[in-house]
Formats: sequence, structure tokens, C-alpha cells
Amino acid sequence: MQQLQTSPEPTPDSRHLEVRTCGINKNHWYVAARSTEVVDQPFGFTLWQEEFVLYRDTNNQVHALENRCPHRQVKLSSGQVVGDLIECSYHGWQFDALGTCAHVPYLAENQRRPSCKIRSLPVREQDGFVWVFPGDPAVLERDKIQPLAIPEWDHLNYIVTVSIIDFEGHYSYLIENLMDMYHGHLHDDYQAWASAKLEGLEATDQRVDAHYEAQSYYKIDKIWSISQLFFPALRKLHPEPLDVSYLYPNWSATLGNDFKIMCLFCPTNETHTKAYLIHFTSLNAFWRLHKLPVKFRRFVKDSLFGAAQKLLDGLVVQDVLMMEQEQQAYLADPQRRNLELNRTIVAVQKLIKQQAIASSPDLKN
Ligand code: FES
Ligand SMILES: [Fe+2]
Repeated sequence: MQQLQTSPEPTPDSRHLEVRTCGINKNHWYVAARSTEVVDQPFGFTLWQEEFVLYRDTNNQVHALENRCPHRQVKLSSGQVVGDLIECSYHGWQFDALGTCAHVPYLAENQRRPSCKIRSLPVREQDGFVWVFPGDPAVLERDKIQPLAIPEWDHLNYIVTVSIIDFEGHYSYLIENLMDMYHGHLHDDYQAWASAKLEGLEATDQRVDAHYEAQSYYKIDKIWSISQLFFPALRKLHPEPLDVSYLYPNWSATLGNDFKIMCLFCPTNETHTKAYLIHFTSLNAFWRLHKLPVKFRRFVKDSLFGAAQKLLDGLVVQDVLMMEQEQQAYLADPQRRNLELNRTIVAVQKLIKQQAIASSPDLKN
């Protein structure tokens, strides 16, 4: 058996931090929306207690601004997009992509346009999602930080399903849920694996990788075997490696060669988290399919989008119930300690604390 490896115990600086109230390290890209959610209307979202609005201009570029009209502080997400500007619904002031007031509809001849400016965030649209960088732009420039790549999103060999996780709880409960494969007990019919056993663990100040051996229910090796997604009776247990990674602030997992799952985090505040869960079913085993025209393969991929929706949504409902109960129990008695047997959870909590400290060095004191 592979030796379990973990990095040293938390430093005295991070140990006193309470993981359930830890903030996020803003010097990362965070998912804000699916591309399809940002069309011709403003899209409001909250990232760690700050409200922002996305809008798409006439060149198809997405912009992110503080969700606040500087005139009366109402939400710009209640307004509309006018050409390359976003317009407040109250008095019609308009703002450009940099957050500068570009137009006031009732300005008198002797009045100057207010020189107000609201905050704008760097935005990237990549692999079907809109990402924002809420941290220090100088750090972004210096470290060339990139959003998490999701090459399977457009790759013709993968069928995609997306589910939204939106729950009343700190983001640490979600990442612990995703990293602890022993919770398969919860999922019954929805479960893709059984009998997980932790075989290896590695942790740095950027990521945690846990390697489990599990029994997988699915084997996608014949074209008909995709029907296993719909009919539990067709599934047969067989051993597969189950690798899960906390790539701060997101999560990625593979089960054998057939499945990949990712979770993109948009933590809202200390007691609310939103995330996108993406499930990829691989068609890599079907070499005959790969010889067909790209147009047809694109048609197959698009037609099967959402094939695992029932499965994924079912998993989310079960997980959310548990995570919200964990949050409620914490709020009722923050001093009560959990009993933890999975070393992965210790490593995950340590990383959350390290990243919170990296974001706010004052926490050390
Ligand atoms: S409050 Fe926005 S234009 Fe007046
Ligand atoms: Fe789960």
C-alpha cells in the first residue's frame, strides 16, 4: 500500500483560525456564471459578501462591475444593457465597462456629468464559464494567474452535465464533502462508486490530492453502456482508482477512465455557497465514433448534454441536506468538535486556513 503523505501540522499561526468562518483568498479566479447565463440582460452575483453584475457588450465581451449605481446605490442588475453600456433602472444613468458614468439622460447644459466610478473586475470567459478575479490586479499581473482549465467542456469525446449547488453553508462543508469519498453511504442509487478506501494523500499550500481505491458501478466501454446512466440494473461493480483534488478554490475528480467531475466554487458568504458541479462522461473508448465527421460528433455531444442530470441533481439534493445540517449544528454550538477519521479533511482544512492567511496577513496576529 502506498505510504500516506501529508504536509506538516498547521503552523501555530493558522491553528487558531476557525475553518467555518475562514474567508477566501481573493487572489484566484472565481466562477461567476455559466456563459449561457449572461446573454442580453445584466446578471447579478455575490462573491464573498460583495455584489457584482455581469453584462455582455455588442462585441460579445463580458464585463463585471460592482452591482451598485453610485447615484442612489440601487442594484445595476435591475437595469438593462444598452449597446456597450449598462443602464440603471431608476434614473437611467449609464456606465461603461470600466465603471465610469458615461451618460445621464437629464443633464442640464450647465451641469457636468458626475465623475463617479464604480469598481470593475478582470473577467475571462473560458470553457463555457465566466470567471472573475476579485483580488489584487498587481498580483494577477505578476503571477500570471489563470482560471481553471476545463478542456473536456468543448472536447467532442465528453458528454457534459451541469448542476448548480446553492446551499446555506460555509464553503468548507462542500469541499470536505467532495474530498471525503467515504460518504458514498449517503447516495444509494445515485452512487457511482462503493467501498472507497484512502490509499494516498498529498498536500501543498495550493492543493490537496487524495487517492482512493473504489468499486465503480459504471463501465463505459460499449456504446450501449451509456444506458447505465439511466438504468441501475445494468451497472456492475468493478475496481477503479478514484482520485480527488482540491485545486484551491475548486475541485476536480476522476473515477477510472470513464468519468470526470469538477466543482467550481463561488462562495457567497460565511453561511452561503454557490457552486457549479460539472459531470463529464468520456466517449474515449469508442474509437469508431471518433472517425465520424466532426459535425455529427458535435451533434451527438450536444444531444446528450445533460444525460446525467437526474443523477447529478439527485446527488446534490442529498449532499445539500447534510451540509446544511452541519452548518446549523455549528451555529447552534460552535465549540462542539467533530470526530474525524479521514486525514483528507485535516489537509483540506489546513489549506483553507493557509489561503485565508495568504489573503489577509493580519489573521496571523
Ligand atoms: S439610482 Fe441609478 S440612476 Fe438614479
Ligand atoms: Fe456526495
